[in-house]
Amino acid sequence: MAQLEVREVAVQFGGLRALSGASLEVEAGQVTGLIGPNGAGKTTLFNVICGIQSPDSGSVVLDGQDLGDTKPYRRGRLGIARTFQRLEVFGSLSVHQNVLVAAEIHRRGRSESPQSVADAALERVGLAHVRDERVDSLPTGLARLVELGRAIACQPKVLLLDEPSSGLSEDETDAFAALLGELTDDGLGILLVEHDVALVMSVCARIFVLDFGQILASGTPDEVRAHPQVQAAYLGNMPVDAA
Ligand SMILES: Nc1ncnc2c1ncn2[C@@H]1O[C@H](COP(=O)(O)OP(=O)(O)OP(=O)(O)O)[C@@H](O)[C@H]1O
Ligand SMILES: [Mg+2]
Repeated sequence: MAQLEVREVAVQFGGLRALSGASLEVEAGQVTGLIGPNGAGKTTLFNVICGIQSPDSGSVVLDGQDLGDTKPYRRGRLGIARTFQRLEVFGSLSVHQNVLVAAEIHRRGRSESPQSVADAALERVGLAHVRDERVDSLPTGLARLVELGRAIACQPKVLLLDEPSSGLSEDETDAFAALLGELTDDGLGILLVEHDVALVMSVCARIFVLDFGQILASGTPDEVRAHPQVQAAYLGNMPVDAA
């Protein structure tokens, strides 16, 4: 059984069908990719999974349980965490405070102290050396890691990352790919939305391609890369050996 399942989700904004019957699965201990052109519906699908956006039809299933109209904060407690396409951090707070806020919110029912959860999350994403810096004084690459650290401090089962590598240098992107591998080794399931196709191809076990609100193709990186419709819709300009 997949850890997270999205089943036939449809979302309409006025006359626009942002999602029409999109389904995908995220397995524990793997990075699953979600790619597709601008406006395909990727962020909308994240919002549906998190409970910020109610679908017109379809369902989100976590560990075999249909989440129905479960509120976003409850979904967080059940183990769904995310980062945002536009960086969402508290700029005037320190790195440590940003992560501690998340650990405090999710402390209920846990034996570990929020402090030790926050410290472990900072250690995990490699930010211990800047823990007392204000976040708005950090370069983008480190600020993105703060957001990731905060998501990890929720101790999620499934982590949704919306374009996490935007604003990262090539070296930072390589380090980020390695970090994703470490997180999945710990059993976390990751759903990665990303326009950096080379990154997606290198870290994902499975990739879903979304186009006009529908899943156009899914499979291993090699299968997706070879798919003719995917080539036409999305990968047209990508060199074949980009991975
Ligand atoms: N709250 C909203 N109200 C109306 N239309 C919306 C809303 N949110 C998204 N849309 C529209 O739904 C479609 C899907 O948007 P979405 O942000 O999910 O795409 P995306 O795949 O994340 O794109 P990008 O790669 O540019 O981030 C777009 O046409 C967008 O303009
Ligand atoms: Mg988006």
